[in-house]
Amino acid sequence: MNITINSARLTNELTALAGFSAAPAPAVTRIVFSDQDLQARAWFKDLCTQAGLEPREDAVGNTFARWVGTDPTLPAVGTGSHIDAIPHSGRFDGTVGVLGGLEAIRALQEAGVRPRRSIELLLFTSEEPTRFGIGCLGSRLLSGSLPPAAGETLRDKDGNSLNTVRTQAGFSGALESVRLPPDYYSAFLELHIEQGPLLEERNMPLGVVTAIAAPASVRVIIEGQGGHAGAVLMPNRHDAFLAAAEIALALEAAAKSSGAIDSVATTGVCDVFPGAVSSIPSRVRLEADIRDVNAERRDGMVRSLEKACRAVAARRGVTVQTETLNQDAPAICDPALVTILTKACADFPFDRMVSRAYHDSLFMSRLFPVAMLFIPCHKGYSHRPDEYASPEAIARGVLVLAKALEKAAAA
Ligand code: HGY
Ligand code: MN
Ligand code: MN
Repeated sequence: MNITINSARLTNELTALAGFSAAPAPAVTRIVFSDQDLQARAWFKDLCTQAGLEPREDAVGNTFARWVGTDPTLPAVGTGSHIDAIPHSGRFDGTVGVLGGLEAIRALQEAGVRPRRSIELLLFTSEEPTRFGIGCLGSRLLSGSLPPAAGETLRDKDGNSLNTVRTQAGFSGALESVRLPPDYYSAFLELHIEQGPLLEERNMPLGVVTAIAAPASVRVIIEGQGGHAGAVLMPNRHDAFLAAAEIALALEAAAKSSGAIDSVATTGVCDVFPGAVSSIPSRVRLEADIRDVNAERRDGMVRSLEKACRAVAARRGVTVQTETLNQDAPAICDPALVTILTKACADFPFDRMVSRAYHDSLFMSRLFPVAMLFIPCHKGYSHRPDEYASPEAIARGVLVLAKALEKAAAA
């Protein structure tokens, strides 16, 4: 079969999707269940309908669009990713896997392929942790990796529960109903930008992912004593921000001294209260993102953080509470699917590599065989407005994805 990717169509759709944003171009902000997200979802569902794929949504907004195969009773082959975007980020993170997955299906349709297994496109809800503090919310619920009680316990910054927000967004039903049966998919493949510089540095057009790093996130609440910035003398202070600063630096030191370049740690959120220049910070909320391809090393960094919190609390006379929001195992991609992807690369050179970013495939791997395909992005920039993947790189990735889907659906 001669499979042709309509790169112009896909580029136009990626551009249109980027327009559903709360930030001015070229930045993209599309927070889960925001107006921009809901508008983008409606637009996406319309594209699916135009391709003859009747979309359906589950109780948390995961959206499924199935191309029914000649034997609809068989477990389907899934592909997809996410369209939510963190504040002031880029237009390719996740969207290449959603719109690229749609383009792969349309290219197979237009080539006259009749898949034995159904091929299903999946848009995951809330891959980013921005609103509810935990990443991969939709895929965690699909794979049974998050208890349905999270509907009440997960809250956004305004204190709204996931259940309240999702219901207001039009997604109702018990979260118990989201979980997929273990035989729902025979395979799941995700196309994504690398979000790192390796493929571009090596002038490599494709990356076949063999493993996905293990993420953890920890919330740290530091309570000190506030006071007047002029009247409280230095020896009498219990400054919550300076305690937070020491904790953040201790986490950095733990990552740098782990003995492996794969250990990374980021204190990406630092809320200072009351946030007035003439008031000594009395309360600080930190959120730390801790990752490694090796779960034991990652757990060692979490322990080092907790130890530093105890030491700083004692030294500075503040209270420090830590809450581990998630501490997930890494994923190993299915060897048979990795082989399907490497063969689908055909004449294109590719690297085998680890994904340092986490993805919904990390949680889909708890139920199904998964594999991921990376395309290069400029200088590895991601989660920034200048994130960029060329139409050629995207079309090449979609072509390989289409071939791999065709092969997996014939199995
Ligand atoms: O942060 C990540 O790894 C993903 O891009 N959400
Ligand atoms: Mn991301
Ligand atoms: Mn992503």
